[in-house]
Amino acid sequence: MKIAIFASGSGTNAEAIIQATEQGRLDATVSLIVTDRPSAKVVERAEKHCIDVFAFNPKEYETKAEFEKEIVEILQENKISFVVLAGYMRLIGSTLLEAYEGRMINIHPSLLPSFPGLDAIGQALAANVQVTGVTIHLVDSGMDTGPIIAQEPVRIEKNDTIETLRQKVQALEHRVYPETLQALFIEQRERLDRDE
Ligand code: GAR
Repeated sequence: MKIAIFASGSGTNAEAIIQATEQGRLDATVSLIVTDRPSAKVVERAEKHCIDVFAFNPKEYETKAEFEKEIVEILQENKISFVVLAGYMRLIGSTLLEAYEGRMINIHPSLLPSFPGLDAIGQALAANVQVTGVTIHLVDSGMDTGPIIAQEPVRIEKNDTIETLRQKVQALEHRVYPETLQALFIEQRERLDRDE
């Protein structure tokens, strides 16, 4: 199973997934990192693990369809069968969706459908809820709206700040994302075996 990870920022989730593949906890190979921010820290992480990177600047393209067409070509050249969004802060357009629908997954730092979009952790704190969490879902054309695959809660304590809550949520993400991917890939393989 060759996978590509899309990220726009630090890439701590990308790192957790790469490490899980290297340690044999996740039966997949991260063959490509795609980023819409060529200066993002995730690029450094990819290089450290000798993983190819496709970094592009969306401003250099006239439309989303144009850069997504180039991404799809690169994914297909690299024989990528599954796309993992890990902090890719851009809505997926129809060009990418048509090529990878049902084979593209995202992680979001809240219990969806609560707090979609930007700054989900800040939104949860501002709403004064006692529980937030992590959601992993298939990607559709909406903002954090696809079918939910896994969710885990995080308790918000009275003295939590945005930083302490982010640390708790991200520590959970780093455990749950590789585990969920592994369970999903095993299930897909079993389904394929049954259908043969
Ligand atoms: C993660 O917390 C992820 O859940 C969030 O961005 C962060 C990326 O961190 N994604 C979203 O908010 C998507 N709507 P990372 O670059 O350190 O993995």
